[in-house]
Amino acid sequence: MSNQVLEIIKQRSSARAYSTEKLTRQELDIILEAGLQAPTGMNRQEIRFSVVSGDNPVLEELDEEKRRLRGQKKLPDNFYYGAPVLIFLSAEDEFKWSRVDAGIAVQNMALAAESIGLGTLIIGCVYDALHGEKKEYFSQKLQIPEGYSFQIALAVGHKTDDKIPHEYNFETQVVMQDCQDINESQRQK
Ligand SMILES: Cc1cc2nc3c(=O)[nH]c(=O)nc-3n(C[C@H](O)[C@H](O)[C@H](O)COP(=O)(O)O)c2cc1C
Repeated sequence: MSNQVLEIIKQRSSARAYSTEKLTRQELDIILEAGLQAPTGMNRQEIRFSVVSGDNPVLEELDEEKRRLRGQKKLPDNFYYGAPVLIFLSAEDEFKWSRVDAGIAVQNMALAAESIGLGTLIIGCVYDALHGEKKEYFSQKLQIPEGYSFQIALAVGHKTDDKIPHEYNFETQVVMQDCQDINESQRQK
């Protein structure tokens, strides 16, 4: 069985090289709407989306702080691989499902971007930098509201690499119990 949604899920892969071509406002809105349409626990809608241009100087500072915390030297690429746009997702500190909801929203956005021919990279490596001693400074620069914390980011742009989707092992990752009514011969291969 196949349909557009299944094809996009199958096709998506992390992009770690981008051209300098900017996103249009329409493309950006499509991606943000997909994030806003994601479900949240109790329909709390506690995610905030901070859109930052790839040439914003705060990103260089964040890259530096990430490297400092990890004891890394300057790397050939920054943490977002030169993507023209980054979207930082933050969520309420006191809500139990903030992390899960941010994960759902970021994947919704990644799939929406893929469906309109854009590449994405989900980014967690700046988590410690955004939760550390400079949290307040970066939160202010990234317009993360008081009482909210960074959860995950998405880099978006026109990808120039062509990585194939990751492999996985169905048998290792999936267990089934009491599913006798599902016929093994009907399995999707
Ligand atoms: C929660 C999360 C955090 C991630 N953080 C980073 C990151 O900081 N830097 C990076 O290059 N990739 C990051 N990735 C991308 C993963 O490395 C990637 O999804 C994984 O290798 C599978 O490859 P694929 O996305 O091409 O299927 C992250 C992915 C997830 C889901």
